[in-house]
Amino acid sequence: LHVALPRPPRAGQLLTLEIDYEAGEGPGVCWLAPEQTAGKQKPYMYTQGQAVLNRSFFPGFDTPSVKCTYSATVKVPEGFTAVMSATSWEKQKDNTFVFKMSQPIPSYLIALAVGDIVSADVGPRSRVWAEPCLIEAAKKEYDGVIEEFLAVGEKLFGPYVWGRYDILFMPPSFPFGGMENPCLTFATPCLLAGDRSLVDVIIHEISHSWFGNLVTNAMWGEFWLNEGFTMYAQRRISTEVYGSAYTCLEAATGRALLRQHMDNTGEDHPLNKLRVVIEPGFSLILGVNPDDTYNETPYEKGYCFVSYLAHLVGDQSKFDAFLQAYVNRFKFQSITADDTLGFFLEYFPELKEKGVDSIPGFEFDRWLNTPGWPPYLPDLSPGEQLMKPADELAELWAADGLNMEAIEAVDITAWRTYQLVYFLDQVLQKSPLPEGNVERLSKMYPKISKAQNAELRLRWCQIVLKNNLEAEYHKVKDFLHSQGKQKYTLPLYRAMWGGSESARALAMETFSATAPQLHVNVQNYIKKILGLEVAE
Ligand code: BES
Ligand code: ZN
Repeated sequence: LHVALPRPPRAGQLLTLEIDYEAGEGPGVCWLAPEQTAGKQKPYMYTQGQAVLNRSFFPGFDTPSVKCTYSATVKVPEGFTAVMSATSWEKQKDNTFVFKMSQPIPSYLIALAVGDIVSADVGPRSRVWAEPCLIEAAKKEYDGVIEEFLAVGEKLFGPYVWGRYDILFMPPSFPFGGMENPCLTFATPCLLAGDRSLVDVIIHEISHSWFGNLVTNAMWGEFWLNEGFTMYAQRRISTEVYGSAYTCLEAATGRALLRQHMDNTGEDHPLNKLRVVIEPGFSLILGVNPDDTYNETPYEKGYCFVSYLAHLVGDQSKFDAFLQAYVNRFKFQSITADDTLGFFLEYFPELKEKGVDSIPGFEFDRWLNTPGWPPYLPDLSPGEQLMKPADELAELWAADGLNMEAIEAVDITAWRTYQLVYFLDQVLQKSPLPEGNVERLSKMYPKISKAQNAELRLRWCQIVLKNNLEAEYHKVKDFLHSQGKQKYTLPLYRAMWGGSESARALAMETFSATAPQLHVNVQNYIKKILGLEVAE
């Protein structure tokens, strides 16, 4: 936007610039028809800013290197409620809502949703928001649990500066598990599993309150600064609340995702570096769009790097103190990895002295700029007691002649969701299994093959496709019709497209039926997988 002033302003003169604009069909603002909501009665709209989509929502400096406060006045039709990522919220007459964010934030964290939504308290500074038909489930899932996560986060990383922490449950097509909009996380309704089993996503979004929202990556090429530190913080909070066995099990499923991702893309893929070169370009095909860097590397390789820094320090409480000092040093700022690592060496002069940034094979520069599998993996052996039975059971199911006696001796009824997830990841890795095994597995464990839990459904669908179990293709179709999360949707389309003729047909049929209800970015990524033209 170029603005020509009628005459040069005087030094110190205050200028007010009023911009009249309309948001069109840009990817930042999503307009949903009633059929695309849970209640199917009223339309819905929401915005998704990260990474660079908010430029189609409002004019501004759409880069994470700039932070500002904001206020907004939003008038909506009768029967609708507006919510935003703001520290204060006030309803005035004529269905007009006034919002203020009093802390400086980057543009990608400005978010708005309007729909037939209601709220319920779940803690002293937290409530859940959802369409009326989901509000009971949302309250039941999170009542009394959020505050503990916030309190542990504050103990570890310092004050929670955002006032409230609320969660908005989105319509099923929301493309992410969670989006850390300050004061108001946006979350997929898939989290409403009924048994609190997917609460790690909420701990993750809460962790962004310090890593990402307070200390922000200055450029999207260093997205790992947001996500790697957040994964580390998430697992610190989880360790405090649930213990190290469970947390290491969850981290092991994360490691399996990184393995799958690197197998799919090849370890040497340029996106498998922590510091990604983002070249200017105008499309998904030319250059690298920051949105395309959303994969497991910044999360799980980033987590390994932060764990490596903790390993160099060698003492958890000293590293916790460093994290708190780091947040305090860079709060409300946007920084680069050089700032982070410079501060680390400054904070631990004895490590700087030892030259820990240039230990052969583990150079900080290598971590940042070399693609591939992490040179250091944190020890997950505290999770062994939970992983071992799952590993052994997967072995049994991968055998040629099934040892049913040994299989029947294992009782999985009491297994936690992440133990089942881990088991299924092992089965998937060993797939295709010998002829007939997957059918037997499916019959033996309806808890898995008929699961309603989205993480289990994803894995089961992957297993169905990898083993070409046509009798259960309908489960893939049903799952893809029921939700539109990118991390669930793309792996399934990749698996279908890489499979048999009938799997490919299933992909085409499912995509043509569901495309209109998916986020446009997700639509475009699927089109790329299916070799369809992507409109600009
Ligand atoms: N900030 C991300 C979601 C995101 C990333 C949106 C990139 C747009 C571009 C969010 O915090 C996130 O990582 N969500 C994960 C949660 C998981 C790692 C526990 C998700 O959605 O799966
Ligand atoms: Zn995140």
